[in-house]
Amino acid sequence: MFYRNIDEGKVISQEEISSGIFSLLVENKGAAFASPGQFVGVYPNSKDTLLMRPISICETKDGATRLVYRVAGKGTKEFSSLQKGDKVKLIANLGNGFPIDEVKGKCIVLMGGGIGIPPMLGVAKALKGEDVHAYLGFRNNDTFLADEFMQYCKLYLASEDGSVGVKGNVLDALRASTGIKPDVIMACGPMPMLRAIKKYAEENDIIAYISLEERMACGVGACLGCVCKTVKKDDHSHVNNTRICTEGPVFDAREVDI
Ligand SMILES: Cc1cc2nc3c(=O)[nH]c(=O)nc-3n(C[C@H](O)[C@H](O)[C@H](O)COP(=O)(O)OP(=O)(O)OC[C@H]3O[C@@H](n4cnc5c(N)ncnc54)[C@H](O)[C@@H]3O)c2cc1C
Ligand code: FES
Repeated sequence: MFYRNIDEGKVISQEEISSGIFSLLVENKGAAFASPGQFVGVYPNSKDTLLMRPISICETKDGATRLVYRVAGKGTKEFSSLQKGDKVKLIANLGNGFPIDEVKGKCIVLMGGGIGIPPMLGVAKALKGEDVHAYLGFRNNDTFLADEFMQYCKLYLASEDGSVGVKGNVLDALRASTGIKPDVIMACGPMPMLRAIKKYAEENDIIAYISLEERMACGVGACLGCVCKTVKKDDHSHVNNTRICTEGPVFDAREVDI
């Protein structure tokens, strides 16, 4: 259900689940209405970090939103010091999310790379009981969330240095696993990974939905800071552009020029 509001959230818990990766659980009104693949904007308190920081919804439970994020700069560093009971301001829920109902009954491959892994956990959870195979790509054996995916689907790992799973990326891991012929791929991760998935899906006639985590300012469609090129022209403005924060972040890979 559509919900967009400024929520006064309350921190339920926070823990560091891997080096520099934090799992933050925040009680907020929007949690009850969130869909997998949507994101929230988290506002830092510090006056020199004015803009909200977009973070994907990893999952929701019992009226709370779970965010899993990497400390990248000032904003996320501030979030990592939040403790149980602290207040946190969020804009929730943003973006469109993955088309969960449309893919049911198909062979579904989920792909997550690095900090693109968290939203795919919520997708796996929503598709529990379906034919779902999750491929997660890490830099090395400093993994996170992998054990949680195993509760919902089959799991395959890849790492750049070969220390866990297949040496290489998520597509190398898919190619290495025999007998899996995806009808649909759903993915989130760095742009080179998403470009490779788009190409692979087009060559193999697979539908792919990709979530683009570009830099954002407003998060609500007003600043045009997040536009991305599209294959078709927009009916209203007649340009090949779309806003990732409102029309995305999830797109049919055939529709975006990345
Ligand atoms: C829709 C969406 C969902 C996201 N989901 C997650 C998530 O679930 N977990 C998570 O850890 N991060 C996620 N991100 C990225 C996250 O928003 C940034 O890491 C965060 O805003 C950085 O803020 P900061 O103040 O800590 O760092 P800043 O000081 O603003 O930046 C620190 C460094 O991070 C880089 N950076 C900032 N934003 C991005 C971005 N969007 N993509 C790539 N690099 C960036 C900057 O170029 C700079 O090098 C998401 C981004 C988007 C747009
Ligand atoms: S971030 Fe402002 S329009 Fe998308």
